[in-house]
Amino acid sequence: MKPVPLWVDCDPGIDDVLALMYLCGRRDVEWIGISTVHGNVDATRGATNALVALETARGPSVPVLIGVDRPLVHWSPVAEDEHGRNGLGDVVVVAPRQRPTAGLGPVQLARAAAARPGELVVLALGPLTNLAVALLIDPDLPRNVRELYIMGGAVHVPGNTTPAAEFNIWHDPEAAHVVLSAPWAATLVSLDVTEQALLEGEYWNALEAAQGAKARLAALMLARWVEARRIRTGRAAAGLHDPVAAAIALAPTLAEYETTPVRVDVSQGPDRGRTSAAPDSLGFPVRCATRLDRERFLADFMTQITSP
Ligand code: BDR
Ligand code: CA
Repeated sequence: MKPVPLWVDCDPGIDDVLALMYLCGRRDVEWIGISTVHGNVDATRGATNALVALETARGPSVPVLIGVDRPLVHWSPVAEDEHGRNGLGDVVVVAPRQRPTAGLGPVQLARAAAARPGELVVLALGPLTNLAVALLIDPDLPRNVRELYIMGGAVHVPGNTTPAAEFNIWHDPEAAHVVLSAPWAATLVSLDVTEQALLEGEYWNALEAAQGAKARLAALMLARWVEARRIRTGRAAAGLHDPVAAAIALAPTLAEYETTPVRVDVSQGPDRGRTSAAPDSLGFPVRCATRLDRERFLADFMTQITSP
């Protein structure tokens, strides 16, 4: 199978690190670049954490570029409560050997896509600020990119940051509006599907028992999420939002979809960041994942993360 030329834009973050380590194990990826954005942590910390993920997974040498370090219009705070002060659930790790590559993330993303028109797959795992800026730099970006996969939104389910909104969209709704209004071949991987594949029970036990470096880091980081959800809901489990989006980007048959324009609420009220299906609007259609093959995803994720 021909490897997928992949650019990952992310805000590492616990599950971003999981997604990057998961992707490092896949042989069907041709790494083009990684850019980081303000979200779970600031963009510089995010770049360090992306390098931690690559080095822990003994992944390939990929350029990691720091991107935009604030939302487009209104300020939003980073997510220390969820991801810890270091973005790794406060797990102490060895500093990465490599440094971020010079250049601004969205500029290099636009250049990389223009250099190979119609080839790149872009996977967005954080707020959409870098993608909005890349679009402003190069309006041809949606045509140059083959496919865009976005982890974000909560279309038919409640949000996880407010009752209306999911974190990535809530953090920078104006950027999400810009991106979701552009003519990409875009797929939205929202909480509607990521919440269908919680890591729990036998899978959590297997991860805790595994000895490889990726599995050790994953289990240490996820322990706080498992405990937090147990206290909140009585269910000892962790969401794998960004890994689900990564897996769907490489294997779209993992999910079922509805295709509809998506409206982003950019008001300052309680609906800020809400993502709604808007089938009657004139917006560009977005393929929204609605159902996930949970067992297939979890089996694949566990294989990659627990491999030595
Ligand atoms: C998303 O928000 C972030 O906290 C996670 O990294 C994920 O990308 C889930 O709502
Ligand atoms: Ca993320």
